[in-house]
Amino acid sequence: MTAIARPKALWLGRWGFVLAATGSSVGLGNIWKFPYMTGEYGGGAFVLVYLLCIAAIGIPVMMSEIALGRRGRGSPVDAIRRVARESGRSGLWATLGWMAMLCGFMVLSFYVVVAGWSVSYLWKALSGGLAADSVEGMAAIFTANNANPWNLGFWSTLVTVATMAIVGKGVQAGIERSVRWMMPGLVIMLVIMIVYALFSGGFKAGFLFLFAFDPGKLTGAAVLAAMGHAFFTLSLASGAILTYGAYLPADQSIGRTTLTVAICDTLVALMAGLAIFPVIFANGMDPASGPGLIFMSLPLAFQQMPLGGVIEVVFFLMLAVAALTSAISMIEATVAWLNESHGVSRRRAAWGVGIVLWIVSTLAMLSFNVGADWKLAGRHFFDWLDFLTSRLMMPLGGLGMAILAGFVMHRQAIRDELGLPPWLHVLWQFVIRYVSPLAILVVFLDALGWLGAGFDWRWIAAILALALVGEAVISRRSPTPR
Ligand code: TRP
Repeated sequence: MTAIARPKALWLGRWGFVLAATGSSVGLGNIWKFPYMTGEYGGGAFVLVYLLCIAAIGIPVMMSEIALGRRGRGSPVDAIRRVARESGRSGLWATLGWMAMLCGFMVLSFYVVVAGWSVSYLWKALSGGLAADSVEGMAAIFTANNANPWNLGFWSTLVTVATMAIVGKGVQAGIERSVRWMMPGLVIMLVIMIVYALFSGGFKAGFLFLFAFDPGKLTGAAVLAAMGHAFFTLSLASGAILTYGAYLPADQSIGRTTLTVAICDTLVALMAGLAIFPVIFANGMDPASGPGLIFMSLPLAFQQMPLGGVIEVVFFLMLAVAALTSAISMIEATVAWLNESHGVSRRRAAWGVGIVLWIVSTLAMLSFNVGADWKLAGRHFFDWLDFLTSRLMMPLGGLGMAILAGFVMHRQAIRDELGLPPWLHVLWQFVIRYVSPLAILVVFLDALGWLGAGFDWRWIAAILALALVGEAVISRRSPTPR
């Protein structure tokens, strides 16, 4: 069968997509969110579940999303509709694209606030505003930075404007170039910080905290948090990777690019953990200090290390760029959709979306000052945006993507797109059809407390074994089933 050919601006060169997708996935999720969540959920156990989720859910789902995007050549809504119709299925699957788009928008609404923190810290680093000699002092700087809505709003507005300006111009233009120097820069900074950490006295404690597995700390909520973070850090189920996949040239291998992106992303997160936790333990800070964790701890280390002033500036600059290359990807789906399906120019689409985004993100920003008491069920607006997207919409969206690629999409179509060797395709298919969906469901039900203490995990093994036998029988019967 023939792919749906549609002329499209494609990524340039062999590395274009890898760079852009790495730019999307490596961001605040790796350097800000991963450490503070690891701290909150107790360390090694969280890290291990997160790694398992990357392997068993993240990588196969990412491959599916890229394949869906490339096959459908368009924004999530259009691409999914096309692929579903091509496979003789209902166009209603496009609902999944709507949810993804909404999810990307919601993530960006609170992401610009954190990116705003990073840019304001870059400014503070440049202007000498990060001088304090204790954890308490650094915490006070962080709190003061949040307390004034005009100050905080200025920085998040700046990030919003920068993001929309770039998206309005078309993402291909600058993104490949920026990632080309941001990534190595960020990695070099992290290496320097890890080397410093080796001598800081907290390295062993930090290392053990990250990698010593204590199953006692594994609660249902922690597992859901780890799974949600795997989606977040790989930019999945929110239209970002799918839309970037739409610009992937037909001759590039989806498996290899996915693996490259996932490995880079994971390495950056682990390196960030190795750079940060030693500082936290060396200074007697509580790893469960919440979202301010890196902003309160790292500047302390920069003050103590040789050439710390320069390193601090470069680090926050890299962090800001990493945040920007991620932010762009979250809203690209919406802008691409307005542009392709409604004929709105990219520029107008970007500014229109930008205004709505600015309003929602301002509400999120107010959670840290004026609106600190505006809580619903114990969470303020910023937390709700994070919670609803990472713990609900992304896992559900990921489940949808897995079902789409595993069951709905025509078998030959997905095989053509992925182009894997037969044995690997069989493995991928088994994982995307049974392992990932089942894992997502179980984690969900467990977090809701529906599985109960008496749940027998052998059920899961039994279901998987049954699926394996079923698949083997079916493929025996008809060599090219749909
Ligand atoms: N993955 C990015 C990070 O780790 C964040 C990100 C980019 C994202 N695009 C996304 C998160 C889409 C959710 C949805 O910082």
